[in-house]
Amino acid sequence: MRDSQAAADPTLPATMLLSEGELQSLVSEGTLLGMGSAGKAFRTRYKGADAVVKVAHSRKRARLFEGEVRTLLALKGLGGAPRVLAVCENYLGFLMEFCPGRTLKDMLEEKASVSTILRGIYNLALRLQDIHLAGFAHNDIKPDNVILQTSGLEVTARIIDLGLSTRLGLRPGFQGDPEFFRHMAPELLQRGMTSVESDLYSIGNILRSVMERYPESFSEGCQLSFLVWNMTSSIPGSRPPFEMFLDVLANNLDVCG
Ligand SMILES: Nc1ncnc2c1ncn2[C@@H]1O[C@H](COP(=O)(O)OP(=O)(O)OP(=O)(O)O)[C@@H](O)[C@H]1O
Ligand SMILES: [Mg+2]
Repeated sequence: MRDSQAAADPTLPATMLLSEGELQSLVSEGTLLGMGSAGKAFRTRYKGADAVVKVAHSRKRARLFEGEVRTLLALKGLGGAPRVLAVCENYLGFLMEFCPGRTLKDMLEEKASVSTILRGIYNLALRLQDIHLAGFAHNDIKPDNVILQTSGLEVTARIIDLGLSTRLGLRPGFQGDPEFFRHMAPELLQRGMTSVESDLYSIGNILRSVMERYPESFSEGCQLSFLVWNMTSSIPGSRPPFEMFLDVLANNLDVCG
């Protein structure tokens, strides 16, 4: 590896540094998975295994990946977050583990069974709790940032796209229209503080869309609809404690068959 790369991030071992040429060849061999504000994600192969490479739209945007890489490195796979495999100089792109499965967004669109979806959301909540316990908030929990893998009755969630993740209790300065960024807690969109409650709001929003997608499975005034109503309160202090949310969800995984 070139010395200039090592200089780009002295905390990374040389084995985890990618040259720009290596990054570009991983991209050109890959298939496009998605395109966001910072860059594009491609499925590719690296050292004999499936991997995902994210590459910035432009050099000016490259630094936008720095936070995501740092959070993923700090989490070391905790909460099912993909592990970083390699990083390109100046964060022009990075490579991470491929998380097999389908995004929750795709599964909702394909109308997977409501029982699978609820089990997936429950596992997502447990994994998010691990991330909180490590001191981080995700800040961008929505169906396309969650991958579910099913094996019989078991559904395992992986949380991806940690581009907006920060330490809990920070004020990252997010600003936006709550009508447009419906999945984000309103206080967060007003330059507010990241918190367990702000991520809880986002899961509540996912649960609400599940209830809208499968109206036949949820009776009016059922326990889950009351839970969702509280989770998506605009007042963070009115949202239920995370443990209470987990208990209520666990008790309602089978009610709607
Ligand atoms: N590690 C991964 N394993 C499997 N699929 C992934 C992985 N990372 C990303 N993807 C897929 O690529 C899509 C886009 O990636 P991601 O959500 O990280 O970025 P984005 O939302 O396009 O962009 P931005 O970084 O601007 O938020 C995801 O919705 C998912 O389908
Ligand atoms: Mg995303």
